[in-house]
Amino acid sequence: MNQPVAPTVITEAAWKAVGVGRKHESAELHVLGQATYTDDIPELHGTLHGALGLSSKAHARITAMDLAPVRSAPGVVAVYTAADIVGTNDCGPIIHDDPIWAVEEVMYVGQPMFMVVADTHDNARRAARRALVTYEELPAIFTPQEAKAAGAYVLPPMQLKRGDYQAAFEKAPHVVKGQLFVGGQEQFYLEGQIAYAIPKEDDALLVQCSTQHPSEMQHVVAHAIGVHSHKVQVECRRMGGGFGGKESQSALWAASAGIAASKLRRPVKLRADRDDDMLVTGKRHCFYYEYEVGYDGDGKILAARVDMTLRAGFSADLSGPVATRAVCHFDNAYYLSDVDIRAGCGKTNTQSNTAFRGFGGPQGAIAIEYIIDEIARNLGRDALDIRRLNFYGKTERNVTPYGQEIVDNVIEALTAELEQSSDYRARRQAVEAFNAASPVLKKGLALTPLKFGIAFNVTHLNQAGALVHVYVDGSVLVNHGGTEMGQGINTKVLQVVAHELGLDMSQLRIMATDTSKVANTSATAASTGADLNGKAAQDAARQIRERLAAYAVKLYGDEDGQPVRFFDNHVHVNGHKVAFPELVQKAYLARVQLWSDGFYATPGLHWDPKTMSGHPFSYYAYGAAVSEVVVDTLTGEWKLLRADALYDAGRSLNPAIDIGQVEGAFIQGMGWLTTEQLWWNPAGKLMTHAPSTYKIPGISDCPEDFRVKLFDNSNVEDSIHRSKAVGEPPLLLPFSVFFAIRDAISSVGGHKVNPPLHAPATSEEILRAISAVEMAA
Ligand code: MTE
Ligand code: HPA
Ligand code: MOS
Repeated sequence: MNQPVAPTVITEAAWKAVGVGRKHESAELHVLGQATYTDDIPELHGTLHGALGLSSKAHARITAMDLAPVRSAPGVVAVYTAADIVGTNDCGPIIHDDPIWAVEEVMYVGQPMFMVVADTHDNARRAARRALVTYEELPAIFTPQEAKAAGAYVLPPMQLKRGDYQAAFEKAPHVVKGQLFVGGQEQFYLEGQIAYAIPKEDDALLVQCSTQHPSEMQHVVAHAIGVHSHKVQVECRRMGGGFGGKESQSALWAASAGIAASKLRRPVKLRADRDDDMLVTGKRHCFYYEYEVGYDGDGKILAARVDMTLRAGFSADLSGPVATRAVCHFDNAYYLSDVDIRAGCGKTNTQSNTAFRGFGGPQGAIAIEYIIDEIARNLGRDALDIRRLNFYGKTERNVTPYGQEIVDNVIEALTAELEQSSDYRARRQAVEAFNAASPVLKKGLALTPLKFGIAFNVTHLNQAGALVHVYVDGSVLVNHGGTEMGQGINTKVLQVVAHELGLDMSQLRIMATDTSKVANTSATAASTGADLNGKAAQDAARQIRERLAAYAVKLYGDEDGQPVRFFDNHVHVNGHKVAFPELVQKAYLARVQLWSDGFYATPGLHWDPKTMSGHPFSYYAYGAAVSEVVVDTLTGEWKLLRADALYDAGRSLNPAIDIGQVEGAFIQGMGWLTTEQLWWNPAGKLMTHAPSTYKIPGISDCPEDFRVKLFDNSNVEDSIHRSKAVGEPPLLLPFSVFFAIRDAISSVGGHKVNPPLHAPATSEEILRAISAVEMAA
């Protein structure tokens, strides 16, 4: 196989287990259909199946709930409500406002009220529908605009200020003002939410769960069934995608299965059907923005104010940190001297919105891109020039509104490289020439940059652990606290350990993530999985290596003055070349410890939530993309003709995986901004709860000409092998698709009118924006 190599290799002599494209550690199993997901685990004898009974009202008091017809349905073994919960009826990750099963009041259509346990999945689902519930309806709020008008928030609104916005705004010669709406997004992991709870002796439980956060599942289940954490073991070998949707919201499923299994002392599986999954769980927050920006005649931003209202849903979930990340990403790649950035988490009678790739970062950054796009059009300039003019500087204009100094800025160099390699300027002219001659089909082109802060914005979460075992035959087993959701964390961690011990990847194996192996883990989230767990595993492997090296010196001496080196499956010591298993066997007999734990805590982070300032991020990842689209102005159909993306993965641990991450994030983000529309009916029921009505991108939506490259860079921070995170930031790259569509629409009015285009830019929305431009032009 022709392996892509990282742009910069660490040193020539280094054992190259890192920095080299490696196939995903489960690639063969995936392709053969032999990779075990939670639902593939062989079921134990006596396994029962659960289903949840869901609210049909958006906001109501439950006046009566007759579950007798459910209990008498075929195959039903038990029916549970909140009254049956021995511990706490709560699965909220931060604020405890999230009941597992509703009590007295329901807060959205789809809220679980009870659980049925039956002999089969099908019987459980059929039985759940037989409940006779009567409600007394209460007033409901659905949109962020309504929540804002009513002052309904799940948390106090937040504000980040720097400089004197008002004074700077008053002095500014030009202004843009407006509103923008950007829709939410369903995670649409291919494997739905699932938990399989198996009772163990002495009131203990093993919970097999598709989750990004096994430790959180452990705590939620332990609290719900009223036992200590040491009695609950949570295991996850892999997920069929998480995308943030299994960071906190796997808890409802784990807790429900756990409660039933602990009561019945029988294994209980709870697997969400796709429609239930979409009706019950939260999504990416939609945002409503009101903005007001002052700028000068060159297009330099002098003052910026934005007020963002998120649709949090009925409970807080992770909305607070999501809003904080949005506030801290409104700047994107731009220096904003005088700002007033506000965010409010609107309380609505809808699903409780949660993490989704980017975690508010994309929602924060798209607003400033929208504003810059308008400034450029108002001045009759290419938006790229306005972007560039406002970029953060290297040594000045390099402090973010929240006070973090940017010391790793490469946005100008990266953009310049992409501008060249994508032939941006010539293509701009070609697009204009095409449009001049084409009355119906209109092309659009846009280049958008990204800067994304890496670290959990809640400081204490930036820690990880690992456990590495070397067995007597020289084979190695690796555990770490991160979870595999397809992103390749296990492959990267294995590469790191192979690199430390000088072994081939085939000598190593990874185990399921397990709360009994590594304790108190953070969610695999914030794109930090490989950063944190890679470092922890490196720490563990280094300790083993150091012990082996000391023992090798004892055996073979060190008169050659060279350090003991580990590469090529051998240990090189004082002129001897000893096979790794041979040294391991000798070390075992000499009673040298051949396993180790490892730990990592990201240094230098601090954050003051009161002043919204500090140093929340370890470093920044950068990127940019150019997209070219063609829009049919009569039907609103469009196509992405070509996309070029350049992403800064530092010294990539695995360029093959990282390029895959960039491609995946690009297409996923494109879906968010174009075809993926969530629609609730006037009674508050989500009607787009299946792929029949909710359109994620398909293979035919990928551009035929798709050029994704990694930018040659090295992390200035001492990250794992100087790599950079890749999971979420590239989700911002398809801003370029949205702004290319806006550019094509704008051509209809000779680029004189700012198209009032909101996201998602569905065909209907595109047509609406075109007619608005035509009317204004
Ligand atoms: N890639 C795949 N294939 N599947 C996923 O669910 N989740 C994304 C990203 N890439 C995801 C993915 C999200 S939301 C995050 S935070 C990161 O992966 C988490 O993994 P990492 O920190 O190990 O990169
Ligand atoms: N990303 C994902 N999850 C989180 C974060 C974040 O930045 N902060 C707290 N939980
Ligand atoms: Mo990713 S949204 O941080 O799980």
